[in-house]
Amino acid sequence: MGSSSIFLTPRALGVYAIIVILFFTVRQLGTTHATYGTAEWTSGKLSQIAGSAGPKTANSTLDFQEIVYISMPYRTDRQDAMALIAAQSGIKLNKMIAGVPSDAVHEKARPLTAHPKQDPKKPWLGVWRAHADAWRYIIDNNIQSALIMEDDVDWDVNVRDVFGQWNWQMKNNNSLAENKGHGPKGETCEYGCNWDIINMGQCIYSPHPKDKSHFTYHDANSPPIGSFTKPNTKEMVESWNYKPEDAGVRLVTPSYQPLCTMGYAMTQRGARRALYQIGGFLAMDNPIDWEFIEHMKAGRLLSYTVSPPLLVKWKVFGPGDTDNDYGFEYKADEKVDMTTGGGLSKGLLRSAREGLKVLDGTFHTWKEGE
Ligand SMILES: *[C@@H]1O[C@H](CO)[C@@H](O)[C@H](O)[C@H]1NC(C)=O
Ligand SMILES: *[C@@H]1O[C@H](CO)[C@@H](O)[C@H](O)[C@H]1NC(C)=O
Repeated sequence: MGSSSIFLTPRALGVYAIIVILFFTVRQLGTTHATYGTAEWTSGKLSQIAGSAGPKTANSTLDFQEIVYISMPYRTDRQDAMALIAAQSGIKLNKMIAGVPSDAVHEKARPLTAHPKQDPKKPWLGVWRAHADAWRYIIDNNIQSALIMEDDVDWDVNVRDVFGQWNWQMKNNNSLAENKGHGPKGETCEYGCNWDIINMGQCIYSPHPKDKSHFTYHDANSPPIGSFTKPNTKEMVESWNYKPEDAGVRLVTPSYQPLCTMGYAMTQRGARRALYQIGGFLAMDNPIDWEFIEHMKAGRLLSYTVSPPLLVKWKVFGPGDTDNDYGFEYKADEKVDMTTGGGLSKGLLRSAREGLKVLDGTFHTWKEGE
């Protein structure tokens, strides 16, 4: 356990100190053209996980083969923000999957039963189609594992450490899995050798009412339980007896009832099982998170969930907050910053979107009185 702590390496500290000194010197001299190496002010660079056998910082695709994200093609504002937080955190987004409006799903292609539990005119049908397109992308390109995110996600500036920690636990120390996550011959695989879907972006989670199987690990980048959203806090307090002030907690369960699809990862097998089970071949009745839940509860999808979540929603206070409430009329309020930058997220020690502020500031000072 000893090697899993996070600290600033002397080298990183040195680089940081130089940058800080440079920054202030440049400010004082009012020099016009300072050259900044972008790598140094990429916020996620300042922390590194130590040790060779222990957890490592995840790579730029968070130790998945690819990262894809879903976005309505017209939401260029959200795509801009995704490009910025990815670049600042050292993350590569391999592919944008286009969001789909429900009425673009042709009547003949609707995978619904005769009596779907929800009205197919509502956004959930289009949401399903966009996610199904992501699963199909994984299948068509024989991708072994992919992280799928929605475009209003936020993460910690140290997201690569956060995922590196989780990966190590799932890979080597998953007491819920056969061989602790290793393969039958003792081999290791990213996030473990036997899973279909892993969830890290649920908005509300209910574990099994009786089977409380779980394991926990320490993550220095996980903030106090009470700083998460109400439902995320409630789960940790009521199901797992944590106190709101407890920090550094991550807890993994076999997935029982995770709601929302802000972030989840799939293996190739998981993508095939999901596309087959959920609308791509067989029928469906519900929004996809409820479809996932049905198949997870029945044991048809092998899945784990980490709580509290690693990926959270960035909420904005303007008409751009959701693409799902069609026809919702937004009332402008002068006192509210309705831009993307005026938003907020909960449950992150250092929000990557908040962290974009390093791109703002005074980098040039005019010479006065000459
Ligand atoms: C691995 O799991 C065991 C038992 O659950 C736990 O005591 C140990 O601290 C874990 N190791 C690490 C490095 O987290
Ligand atoms: C990150 O690691 C995964 C898993 O080993 C690998 O498939 C992927 O190609 C790596 N990403 C990059 C950008 O090297």
